[in-house]
Amino acid sequence: MAFFMNEPMNIIEQTDTIDVCSDAPIGVFDSGVGGLTVVREIMRQIPNEKIIYFGDTARVPYGSKSKEVVTRYSRQIVRFLRTQRVKAIVIACNTASAMALEEIEKEINIPIIGVVRPGAKVAAEVTVNGKIGVIATDATIGSNVYTDYIHQINQNVQVIGKACPLFCPLVEEGLLKDPVTDEIAMRYLTELIDIDIDTLILGCTHYPLIRSTIGKIMGDKVTLVNPAYETARELKELLTKENMLNEVKTGLGTNKYQFFVSDGAQKFQTFANSILKYGILSAKVINIEEY
Ligand code: DGL
Repeated sequence: MAFFMNEPMNIIEQTDTIDVCSDAPIGVFDSGVGGLTVVREIMRQIPNEKIIYFGDTARVPYGSKSKEVVTRYSRQIVRFLRTQRVKAIVIACNTASAMALEEIEKEINIPIIGVVRPGAKVAAEVTVNGKIGVIATDATIGSNVYTDYIHQINQNVQVIGKACPLFCPLVEEGLLKDPVTDEIAMRYLTELIDIDIDTLILGCTHYPLIRSTIGKIMGDKVTLVNPAYETARELKELLTKENMLNEVKTGLGTNKYQFFVSDGAQKFQTFANSILKYGILSAKVINIEEY
């Protein structure tokens, strides 16, 4: 078989030992800033845990890219996080969870979870009329991953997907409570209201930040499922089961939370500081293509 010099490595090489030290950080990654909504939940629900976050700000958005490309990017990020000796990895991006998790989880020997399965599980549990809406990027909706997971739990549930590609830029522009966002949300969500869903999955990491706008339009009878919250809960359960939960309180001054990006550190920092409780001192730029 011929190998080409520039061909990307297509698997993640196994390390000899599994780092099970409960004091080690959790690696969290996303295509950019959206995964910070997952970080926020991890900080709330398991406050002793150290976190190494990577946001692929140079190559965002993932939502319009192919499975091959998103999987290659995700493998590079997982390799980088392994160099930071993380004890577990959270793919805090619906698109990467949809496209890359299944392959990557076969290739590494530390726990790895995505945001899709936890969100799908809760939605399948809470629906009463059996009609669940999913809003997400084009790639996530196109992958049918939410429908597949929900049908593994309950075949009789109807899942209606709706891509909402304009929500991400609106959130990144800070238009969280703005008439423009209201108008676009109304256009996207009307068909889900007409179908009479009773549960709506916020299937993109940016969407919890416009939860109040979405909730206002959908009304009280629709339960909004935030996979970020469910993922942090599942992570806590997993770490507890594996005896890897950090029982020791770590001070903030000891690199407890570290942030890395592939570009635009200042912009990332400003956004992060607007949604996280703890001020981020700095975000470091790394060349992710080296991994
Ligand atoms: N973080 C991505 C997700 O949850 C949305 C942004 C993107 O398209 O990369 O799907």
